[in-house]
Amino acid sequence: MRLQDKVAIITGAAGGIGFAAAEIFAREGAKVAMADFNVEQGEELARGLQEKGYDVSFFQVNVADRESVDEMVTNVLSAYGKIDILVNNAGITRDAMLAKLSTADFQKVLDVNLTGVFHCTQAVLPAMLANGRGRIINTSSVSGVYGNVGQTNYAATKAGVVGMTKTWAKELGRKGINVNAVAPGFIETGMTAKVPEKVMAQMLQMVPLARLGKPEDIANAYLFLASDEANYVNGTVLHVDGGIMM
Ligand code: CAA
Ligand code: NAI
Repeated sequence: MRLQDKVAIITGAAGGIGFAAAEIFAREGAKVAMADFNVEQGEELARGLQEKGYDVSFFQVNVADRESVDEMVTNVLSAYGKIDILVNNAGITRDAMLAKLSTADFQKVLDVNLTGVFHCTQAVLPAMLANGRGRIINTSSVSGVYGNVGQTNYAATKAGVVGMTKTWAKELGRKGINVNAVAPGFIETGMTAKVPEKVMAQMLQMVPLARLGKPEDIANAYLFLASDEANYVNGTVLHVDGGIMM
């Protein structure tokens, strides 16, 4: 059990990667707070894991809204008494070529993918500081590291996540809090299901492992960074993308 008795908040846990992470973390002994905007899906998925005997609960949150984040963190602390791990996994896309991208869609993606990560991390910080230890795991993307056609807004946020990760790793390391990011390649979830087939075929051709990633491939990277095996890993961006770009 690599996360025995640890309390983990996973945002976006009603989605593909977040749900896989919730199950893997729970299997490794963690008490998992599954936090998501999508209440119906989140509660149903949490029930499924509870029926398997795992210690998981669903918490509603809109990461873009600071009040909602504070309420979620308060509720998690009431339920579990501490927070050891935060996985900032919630994210959205609003893809468009630069010429057609609306300011509203630019801002919407910033609000969730960038401001949301700031909100959640700042909100759990007092609990982690009181604990004298903690793990923050952020979700970047191959798009944030290398850019991607049609993703001005999304790539900006995922590059921004790398900047915040490294800044927090420097600020919080001495407080016993390790901060790292995972940069996934193209993973089979609802997010990639929206991409035109022709584009996905092009992307697939760039992957040396010759397959898309599975949600578990990313969840296992989160697990490593959350576990004691990563005690001396701080400020890193772990690329889990089948070698799509080197
Ligand atoms: N590389 C090069 N050129 C491309 C391209 C690509 N990947 N994609 C599109 N183009 C070109 C097209 O060939 C076209 O060229 P012409 O004008 O010369 O014909 C031009 O760009 C416009 O393309 P579309 O006709 O497709 O324009 P559109 O406005 O209908 O749609 C789009 C644009 C919404 C960006 C659509 O192409 C799209 O959805 N692309 C996928 C974007 C993508 O990869 N998203 C990843 C989502 S998954 C994710 O985000 C997870 C993660 O972290 C990786
Ligand atoms: P998904 O669409 O399956 O899941 C995203 C989840 O986030 C959904 O359950 C959604 O309800 C939730 N969410 C959206 N807005 C929210 C908000 N404001 N507050 C709380 N929850 C919210 O997507 P997927 O693929 O599981 O993505 C997870 C993370 O991985 C995202 O940050 C994404 O950007 C990132 N990523 C995904 C890749 C992929 O190819 N699928 C590649 C690289 C990164």
